[in-house]
Amino acid sequence: MTVPTLSVYTDRDSVLQALAGHITALARQAIAERGRFTWALAGGSTPKALYELLAAEPFASQIEWQKVEVFWGDERTVPPDSPQSNYRMAHEALLSRVPVAATRIHRMAGELTPSAAAERYNYDLQRAFPSAVYPSVPPSFDLVLLGMGDDGHTASLFPGTTALQVEDQWAAVAAKGEGKALEWRLTLTFPVLNAAREVAFLVLGAAKRPMLENVLKADPNDTQWPSARVRPNNGRVVWFVDIEAAPPSATTQRSNNET
Ligand code: 6PG
Repeated sequence: MTVPTLSVYTDRDSVLQALAGHITALARQAIAERGRFTWALAGGSTPKALYELLAAEPFASQIEWQKVEVFWGDERTVPPDSPQSNYRMAHEALLSRVPVAATRIHRMAGELTPSAAAERYNYDLQRAFPSAVYPSVPPSFDLVLLGMGDDGHTASLFPGTTALQVEDQWAAVAAKGEGKALEWRLTLTFPVLNAAREVAFLVLGAAKRPMLENVLKADPNDTQWPSARVRPNNGRVVWFVDIEAAPPSATTQRSNNET
C-alpha cells in the first residue's frame, strides 16, 4: 500500500494546469504501453474546469482521444440530461469537444432504478475489462479521478453507509443523507478504487482543509473517512490541491508560472 503523494500549488489555475499535464502524460503512457487509457471521471463541480482545460489546446492535441475509454466513479440517479448528472457535466465540458468514441463512453444509467443501474454497470465493466474476473479480480483503471467532500466522502462513498462495506460488487447503490434528505447514488466500490494503477484526488479551497488534514493523517485501515481508505494496493494515490486546501505544514510545488 503506497504512501500518498501531496502536490500543493499556489492557486487554483496552477493545480488545474498541473493535473491536466499529469493526465496527459498518464494517457500517453497507457496508450503506448497497453493501447488504451481507461479513465474513471469524477463528478461534482470542481472537475469541470479541468475537463474544459483538457478539451482545449495545448492539451487536447496531445491525447489520442480515440484510444481513451471513459467511465464514471459515481453518478446521481437522474437522467443523463439532468443538471445534476455527472455524465452531463463531463459531456458538456469535455466529451462533446474531443473525439472519444461513443462506444468508449461508459456512463452509469442514472435513469434506471438504482439496483438495475448498478447491475448494468457491473456488466459493462466486465465487458470493458475482459481480463478482470467478477467480482474477485476487479478492473484496474489507468486513472481514477476523485474529489473529496468536506465530510470526507469520495465518489458516492459517504461516511457511515453500507456502500463502504461492499466487496462483492464493482458498482453499487449508495445512499447519501437520510430520512427526507435521502438520495440514492451509484458508485464504484473500494475494491475497484484500490485496484487502480493511479488515483488522483482534486481538492480545492479552504473549506476542504480541515477534512484534508484528517484524511492525510488517518490510518487507511481504521478510519471513518472514506477518502482516507483509497490506497491502491499496487498503485499510486496523488493529491492535487491548492494552498487553501493544504494542511499548514505542506509546501508548495513549483507552479507553472514559477518554472
Ligand atoms: C459527486 C462527486 C463527489 C464529489 C465531491 C467533491 O457526484 O458529487 O462524485 O464525490 O467529487 O462531492 O465535489 P467538489 O469537488 O465539486 O467539491
